[in-house]
Amino acid sequence: MGVTIYGPGVHIPETVLTNADLEKLVDTSDEWIFSRTGMRERRISLDKGVREMGTLAVYDLMSRVPFSPEEIDEIILATNVHDGNRTFPAHAALIAGDIGARKGIPAYDQILACTGLVGAIRTGYNNIIAGVVDKLLVLGAERISKFTDYADRHTCVLFGDGAGAYLLQRSEEEGVIKNVLGSEPDMGGKGWPNGYLTTEKREGLQIVSKNNGEFQTEKRKKNYLIMDGGKVLKFAARVMKQSVLDVLEGTGYSLEDVDVVLPHGANIRIVNAAKKGLEKEGLKGVVFHNLERYGNTSTASVPLAAAEAKERGIIKEGSLVVNVAFGAGFTYGANLYRARFSR
Ligand code: UT7
Repeated sequence: MGVTIYGPGVHIPETVLTNADLEKLVDTSDEWIFSRTGMRERRISLDKGVREMGTLAVYDLMSRVPFSPEEIDEIILATNVHDGNRTFPAHAALIAGDIGARKGIPAYDQILACTGLVGAIRTGYNNIIAGVVDKLLVLGAERISKFTDYADRHTCVLFGDGAGAYLLQRSEEEGVIKNVLGSEPDMGGKGWPNGYLTTEKREGLQIVSKNNGEFQTEKRKKNYLIMDGGKVLKFAARVMKQSVLDVLEGTGYSLEDVDVVLPHGANIRIVNAAKKGLEKEGLKGVVFHNLERYGNTSTASVPLAAAEAKERGIIKEGSLVVNVAFGAGFTYGANLYRARFSR
């Protein structure tokens, strides 16, 4: 028995926030941002929340891989922050209602920060293999712009919004092959009492609208993402490569067999360090990301890259693909699977 993964469907917000726009908000430059992160622009959602973006990603998935919401046995949403800064209810339950899923199915959110989508695929796979359910939806949906302080140049240049959704289904063919997931407690250090990548309640700057081509901001006291970028960079450089090696171990496949690696698009330097390390060990396939245009969309970054890689023919029917991610917590993980296009 196997588990096939179809998709993704995606939702990409229409509002583009460029490096030039950020230059008007904080003391930064296109040159600094591009050379240190590889990013030119990102999308932010001015009107849609996590729930609506997730629902739209499911609709997009339904248009690519026809299925009825009635068929779905479970919904798992990987996300960081709920709409309106709420901690509950689970938005997966609301999305279940929005798409017209059967009443009574389990629908829940999972928080693993940017590793969330990779972790949710693992949970979904395990539930199908255990015989609990036959078909489920896995989503990653993020509106990080809502907890980004646009007065903090250390963080605001990095993040963007978006959503992605996959269908996982019990099958006889080779689909998901192996998943790995891990954590290392981020206890922080001097000046970072609550961790190197966490949130802090303070007065920050929110983008609230865009009029005549200009972003409007307001000061608001709330929880904002805070980060010691250097510490996160070091952690990420270590676990990204290792997670890819770990997910291949014991599967009968080696790096030479991998067609496409889809790394979480956090920073081009992290991606390139992992790529270099993996190529040294035998990777011949493509390492694909689109962080230049979308920034770090957390749980949505792997699906946004996967959708584009499929459209561009980089991922083909039967391609051997690795998703790999890291995030706050700290967390890290990877999925190894054969891409399937049609049911
Ligand atoms: O999904 C997980 C989320 N997090 C990450 O993936 C973050 C991983 N870390 C990173 O991507 C990088 O650490 C950053 C891009 C955040 C920062 O790059 P860096 O090479 O580690 O720069 P830095 O923080 O060491 O800063 C170097 C200098 C500093 O100047 P001083 O203090 O040495 O004079 C910063 O103040 O660059 C300054 N700086 C900026 N300058 C212009 C920091 N941010 C900016 C900015 N524009 N946006």
